[in-house]
Amino acid sequence: MDAVKVGLLGLGTVGGGTVNVLTRNADEITRRAGRGIRIIQAAARDYDAEAINGLDQIDVTDDAFAVVNNPEIEIVIELIGGYSPARELVLQAIENGKHVVTANKALIAMHGNEIFAAAQAKGVTVAFEAGVAGGIPIIKAIREGLAANQIEWVAGIINGTGNFILSEMRDKGRDFDDVLAEAQALGYAEADPTFDVEGIDAAHKLTILSSIAFGIPLQFDKTYTEGITRIDRQDVAFASELGYRIKHLGIAHKTDKGIEMRVHPTLIPERRLLANVDGVMNAVLVKGDAVGPTLYYGAGAGSEPTASAVVADVVDVVRALTTDPENRVPHLAFQPNELSDLPILGMEDVETAYYLRMQVADELGVMAEITRILADAEISIEAIQQKEPAEGDTQVSLIMLTHEVLERQMNQAIKRIEALAAVTAPVIRIRMEQLDG
Ligand code: HSE
Repeated sequence: MDAVKVGLLGLGTVGGGTVNVLTRNADEITRRAGRGIRIIQAAARDYDAEAINGLDQIDVTDDAFAVVNNPEIEIVIELIGGYSPARELVLQAIENGKHVVTANKALIAMHGNEIFAAAQAKGVTVAFEAGVAGGIPIIKAIREGLAANQIEWVAGIINGTGNFILSEMRDKGRDFDDVLAEAQALGYAEADPTFDVEGIDAAHKLTILSSIAFGIPLQFDKTYTEGITRIDRQDVAFASELGYRIKHLGIAHKTDKGIEMRVHPTLIPERRLLANVDGVMNAVLVKGDAVGPTLYYGAGAGSEPTASAVVADVVDVVRALTTDPENRVPHLAFQPNELSDLPILGMEDVETAYYLRMQVADELGVMAEITRILADAEISIEAIQQKEPAEGDTQVSLIMLTHEVLERQMNQAIKRIEALAAVTAPVIRIRMEQLDG
């Protein structure tokens, strides 16, 4: 049988990796797919021809629409990223009856509902494994491997750049900007790196994970997003003294009241495997009611790790080319007419434990006032540490770990604490999770 003809949009870090993997492993991939897979045309403006093997077999154009409109092409791989023109290109490819493979989490999180509806109407597949956690096949694991389960929660380190920055800052005392520049040079960071450090990239991925875990439409606008830019070295050190690490987590949790979707720095016990995931590695912990906790680990960004997921999706699409569209795995794991409208909880309705750091005047009765406020708000304290003031200093750091409490109650208590004359700086608050399954 003839090779399946593929069009590629983008020859950057992941696009170049995809051509290299398809070229290097062509025989093995053909044995798996049942047919050869050949990229016949690619659209790119800027690329490093020297770093890509097999480019001589590909017609390279700078017109991406020429690729999605090429009648010979059956599958379009979209690796240009961003919302636009990726959305228009993908919708055009679908309109032309082509299957799409994409690594574009922003596109799927923001426009996935529209894209999947269009794909379903045309009987084509849009595959997006490479969009979440790079090379880890987490979409397939949740959507297919865990299909027997009611998923209870998902918690993951899903931004390689952010994890790389946090790890280097903690282990080597390196500067934030310096590590970020290295992540950019290595091709880990988004085109706009604020997406990485402000948690937007992780929120895109968590939006997708939440949908396939709980069978809900994609709702990026309801995902709470907080980045790593305000994490202070002091808090990393204090957390460590208490037996915790600070990780930037995406958490999706199904509760009796609704679904939590939140991305924020989180203290987790240092004995958890997730606490020891460092560098650009990602890991996702998924708790199913039947299977219990399961952990998936691997490279979360980078050329060939991400290409690994892209090519696996292409193989999946090729294997399913002759199947009836109705019998294919649904895009969001649940049948499209079975998605539920469970409410998404606002942050004030989320219950979690907290790490608090307060800067207070070293005076009699301050601790009593603070614990009184916490008691009034029904916030139970798990641990307290007061740091000795530096010589000549009249300020001390007060660290507290609390038991679980509604964020609304915590916000009210923090407001009252900050109003105390002896509290001399805004209270630092970092959410804390035990992740004990
Ligand atoms: N910028 C992303 C990250 C790339 O660092 O995780 C992979 O999605």
